[in-house]
Formats: sequence, C-alpha cells, structure tokens
Amino acid sequence: MQNLKGRDCISIDGFSAEEIEFIVDVGRQLKRELKMGRYNPLLLGKSLAAIFETPSTRTSISFEAGVQQMGGHMLWLDSHRLWVGEAQEEDWHDTIKTIARYCDGIAYRSIGQARQLSAAEFADIPVINASSPVEHPCQAFADAETMMEKKGDLRKAKVAFCWGYRTANPPAGLTNSTMLMAGKLGFELVIACPEGFDPDMDVYRRAQECASLSGGKISLVRSYEEAVHDADFINVYSWVSPEMFAKGLETHFQGDATFQARKAALKEEWRLSARVVGLARKDCMVMHCMPISRNTEVTDEVLNSPASIIFDQAENRLHVQKAIMALTMSATVNF
Ligand code: CP
Repeated sequence: MQNLKGRDCISIDGFSAEEIEFIVDVGRQLKRELKMGRYNPLLLGKSLAAIFETPSTRTSISFEAGVQQMGGHMLWLDSHRLWVGEAQEEDWHDTIKTIARYCDGIAYRSIGQARQLSAAEFADIPVINASSPVEHPCQAFADAETMMEKKGDLRKAKVAFCWGYRTANPPAGLTNSTMLMAGKLGFELVIACPEGFDPDMDVYRRAQECASLSGGKISLVRSYEEAVHDADFINVYSWVSPEMFAKGLETHFQGDATFQARKAALKEEWRLSARVVGLARKDCMVMHCMPISRNTEVTDEVLNSPASIIFDQAENRLHVQKAIMALTMSATVNF
C-alpha cells in the first residue's frame, strides 16, 4: 500500500514503478467495483477544479464522471470563467492560491509547461496534469492499465509507438510520458517517427536511464517496418518536435511552407495500415489515445478490426484517473 496523499501528478517521472503499479491496481479495482454497480464514495464532499485551456472530450468527461461516481464535484473552469483567462485581469499565482482555498484538487490542461509547473508549485492541493506540451501522464497511466489488462506483466511486452500523419500539430507530451512509463515499468518501447519529428531527447535519455535500472529497452527508428516486428502493441500518435511546437504551431499557425510541404510528403508512408499490422505479432493490438484522424493516421480497416482496443483505452481514462484522484485527494482509500 503506497501513500500518495497530497502528491501532484505532473510527470510519470514523479512516481516509482511500485507507485505506478499501485495506481493501476487501484484503477482496476475501481473498474471491477463499477462493473458490479458499486460506487465507492472516496471523494465524498470533495471538489476538483478542472482548468482546461484547450478542448477535451476524454480527459474532461472522464474526470467529471469519475469525481461524481466517487461522491465529489467537478468545477469546469475554462478561459471564460476565470479572471486569469481571456480577461487576463489576475495574476496566475493568485488564481491558483485562491482555488486551493476552496477545492481539494486541480486537474489542469495547459497550453504551456511553465504554468503547469507553477500551478503545482503554488497550490497546496494536488495538481493533476490533464495534458501539457511536455507530458500527458493520465493517458500514459490509462495505456499502461489497458496493456496490463490485455497482457498481464508488461516486462516481456514490446510496444511500437508510431508517429501517424494528421493535419493538426499536437505536442509530444504523450510520447514523452510513454517513454518514461516504459523506463519505469521495464517494457520494450520502439518509437518510430520521421526525421524532424523526434520527441524530447532529454526525456528520451532520462527514460533510457530508468530503463537501464528496470530492464526495459527504449529505441528510436525511422519506419513502421523496423518498429512493429514482434510487437505486442502498436500505439499510434501524431506529434511535432518540441522545437517545432515552441514556434506556436497548434495555437497560432500551421507552420511555414517548408514545414507544411515536408509534412505533406509523409502522408502516405505514415498511415498505419492492415499490411503493417500484419508484420507484428499475430495477436498484436492497436492503440490510439484519440481524438483520431481516421484514414489519415490509421485506416478504418485497422480501427474497426478486432485488433483495435482504442475504446478500452478511452474507458480506462475514467478508472485510472479515479485512482489518481482518490489516492492523492482522499484521506483513506479502503477496499
Ligand atoms: N486523449 C485525450 O487526452 O483526449 P481529449 O483531448 O479528448 O481529452
């Protein structure tokens, strides 16, 4: 039994392998209880402040449903609601410190990393990273839960984490969190992406450092064919390098003509097809965190096949985030 009360969840690197496994176990226990129709009031009377700077389907709804299932309440705080949002009439630290006087936890999806880190620094209540440019720990936890459900012990598993073409330009946050998760839990992870789309190489090196202790293996290749051989899971995501994202691709512009032309040339090669899935293990499962750009990142044929477990992944956001909230925000977690 790990005591995580009061802890933030900003980075996968903030947790030991034992703590990660414990969180996933609690998530699976909460899932079993829910399937039996039992609601565990672990957050009775508690409030979660949910600050979202970008749209969200899975993260926001799973947090809200999860809090409610545990007897608590979520406040949806988008940029129209707070003085610190569109009005920009208040200092960020004053907003965070005030929220911490009313609520028991904060879930924060941020466009920038600096505000994510300062929220954790200035709030004396747990802050849960609901996706930032540098990490998406909740998704990585849900992916780990999903893979453990399907495969059991992940230490013998191989995961191909493959870049997929799409027109949007998301940051590499999930890729970074997945590398750290592989390093902590000790599974084999092969990142496949085109040149110029590497994830954060500092995180890559840190994940390799963790892997050297856990028995994991993390590498980077330039094609699906190299990545998927013998893979148990193929997880597809689209991202730009931290250097490109820092130029404001997602929020301000789609990149200059050179970037757009470079990216457009990748469209055919970097779409996951049934042919590529056929190169992996026979029982290989296909993952995507969603939202997914169908037939550009992954073909419909693959997404609609029995190999696709994308909705199990989406569902597990609910269960594992309930575990994170209960363990960090609640006094006791009893089963
Ligand atoms: N995967 C994920 O974070 O989805 P949303 O952006 O819809 O929350």
